[in-house]
Amino acid sequence: MGTEEVQSFPSYETAFVFVVLGIIWYFREKIVYKSYKKYVAWMINKITKNIKDGLNDEKTRLFEFLHDYKDQQKENLTILEVGSGTAPNLSFYPANTKVVCLEPNQHFDSYATENVKKEGNSISVDFVHGYAEALPFENETFDIVVCTLVLCSVKDMKKCLQEIKRVLRQGGKCVFLEHVAHEDKTSWAWTIQCIINPVNQLFCDGCETIRDTETYIMAAGFSDVNVKRFPHKPFPVWIRPCISGLATK
Ligand SMILES: C[S@@+](CC[C@H](N)C(=O)[O-])C[C@H]1O[C@@H](n2cnc3c(N)ncnc32)[C@H](O)[C@@H]1O
Repeated sequence: MGTEEVQSFPSYETAFVFVVLGIIWYFREKIVYKSYKKYVAWMINKITKNIKDGLNDEKTRLFEFLHDYKDQQKENLTILEVGSGTAPNLSFYPANTKVVCLEPNQHFDSYATENVKKEGNSISVDFVHGYAEALPFENETFDIVVCTLVLCSVKDMKKCLQEIKRVLRQGGKCVFLEHVAHEDKTSWAWTIQCIINPVNQLFCDGCETIRDTETYIMAAGFSDVNVKRFPHKPFPVWIRPCISGLATK
């Protein structure tokens, strides 16, 4: 009778794998998270110019009211830009506006600073790191809050809209321009949005393609909401349906 060989458990190899996984887990914030956020800022900066050029007419129309609005204000117009990224909207604001750019990802700082330099000195800009779900400002601080291509990425849209309303002065306006879910949930475009959504979230910092943002804005308790729905043709089909408009406190 032959003796059966007993397979010993490869304890050293297993321990080695666990130690390596432990090290990766310990440094995940520093290595993975930081590199990812750096990549996101770099990638968005690369595409911002194209997006800005493509949306130029829409933004000109959307921000036009600011110029009249400013004339009616006694003091300088104060604008909070939520999720400002590379700060691509500054050129649409009237001269002598005070802008606060709120952005959680610090890797955008250098790109945004470059943009501020291009604008010259006519607009004063402060940068603050923070999240739209917990705006670090007193109640009724701003005349205008601007959200462009941000509500698709925030973790809690309801909380963000409450916060936006809180920091707006009475009669102040939230200006928004967002890509949203297709209206027709039987369309092929909606199906594509659903398929691409997980991949888009993974590579674009949580950006969802299937958010019914308009419904959230309508339910946020603004006194008046003006929304325009339009397909932004230069965008790929999964982020093509867009909304823009004003929500007044
Ligand atoms: C697609 S970029 C848009 C940037 C800029 N608003 C624009 O129009 O180009 C989305 C931005 O939202 C920011 N963001 C994501 N989650 C956020 C949150 N919870 N609060 C504030 N900003 C957020 C991201 O860091 C990023 O800068």
